[in-house]
Amino acid sequence: MQNQEVYDELIAKFEKLFGSKPAVVAYAPGRIEVLGNHTDYNEGFVFSAAIDKGTFFAASPADDDTVTLVARDIGPDGETYTCKLSDVKKVESGATWANYPLGTFNWLFDGEPSKAGRGFKAVFGGNIPLGAGLSSSAALEMSTVLALSKIYGIKKDKVALAKIGQKAEHTFAGCPCGLLDQASSLYGKAGALVKSDFRSCTFENVSMGDSVAFMMVKSNAKHALVDGAYASRRQACEDAARHFASVLRHPVTHLRDVSTAEWVLYRGGLDETKARRAIHPIGEDERVLKGAELLEKGDVAGFGALMFDSHESSRNWFENSCEELDTIVDAAKTIPGVLGARLSGGGFGGSCCLLVRPEAADEISAKIKAKYKAVHGDEPTCAVIKPSEGAHLV
Ligand code: GLA
Repeated sequence: MQNQEVYDELIAKFEKLFGSKPAVVAYAPGRIEVLGNHTDYNEGFVFSAAIDKGTFFAASPADDDTVTLVARDIGPDGETYTCKLSDVKKVESGATWANYPLGTFNWLFDGEPSKAGRGFKAVFGGNIPLGAGLSSSAALEMSTVLALSKIYGIKKDKVALAKIGQKAEHTFAGCPCGLLDQASSLYGKAGALVKSDFRSCTFENVSMGDSVAFMMVKSNAKHALVDGAYASRRQACEDAARHFASVLRHPVTHLRDVSTAEWVLYRGGLDETKARRAIHPIGEDERVLKGAELLEKGDVAGFGALMFDSHESSRNWFENSCEELDTIVDAAKTIPGVLGARLSGGGFGGSCCLLVRPEAADEISAKIKAKYKAVHGDEPTCAVIKPSEGAHLV
């Protein structure tokens, strides 16, 4: 469904349920991660982009202290969750989808939602395929936070808004994510990448020109970061940073402070698995910085080669790839018109991001589908993605 259709349906649904138009509607897009994997919580660098699909959040203040959330996309007719301001807390079972908007609302008021004074009613829905690694959850958080800060007259900068969504993920949804997804959704720009520095929390838009496009290839492998794999990777990185802090002569607080050369020389004494995990974000930081230099020179082919390297690092060191994603990247390497390919986002399933020549897109997608089908029996979904505008009020 196109964004306009989603919006029209949502407004109609809101009016039908609540008898008036919403006071506010906010839109926030999903994201693709282009280069720099698992670097955000290591205070490193990432290239990403907001996509042309997202989530709309339509809301009005309530007359009393009730919070009403309607998820348009769940079940045939949507699903509703309600609670009182005094009872805003993590939903443990059933309507666990409510944790994203509820957690966001909770942290918009610094964990004291009663301070809102009165509740709100909202309907939300979107067109980001779920489980594809396109950050539908961050899109929901960022559309929620934009709409609710408007309703309650709260003014915060974008970094603070992104952190509210991240806190909702950590405490309500149970994923210890970095800030990448929320920041990409807020800082996206049409036709441009977002280059993020997660130490200084600064975000820059960089164009890649018209000679290349991105293609997302969604495997049919499950993508769930709430289970332990993401958390254990993050833990390993933090443990490795402590090791390097104890053996290097300069200050190390995160893996951002360690170079590949230092990893080679100073990994002795670090547990083997943790050392393997650590070299991934360390190498990714270096690839992002190298990629930025190449883009400045207009070398998109060189940038693409770094994407292939990124995937090898995921596959061999971080072990957050899987057979399905490897099939896509291995196939992509053999197809003319593909400049680079890598897994995008948390990993363990979800999607690959390909850098392609736009004129070859149809042929590339047909070939990827055929090669994937020959191995796994079903077809992945391929879509050309347009880097798009970030979150905004509609
Ligand atoms: C998920 C997380 C992000 C980031 C990526 C991997 O998308 O939500 O914070 O860590 O994985 O780069």
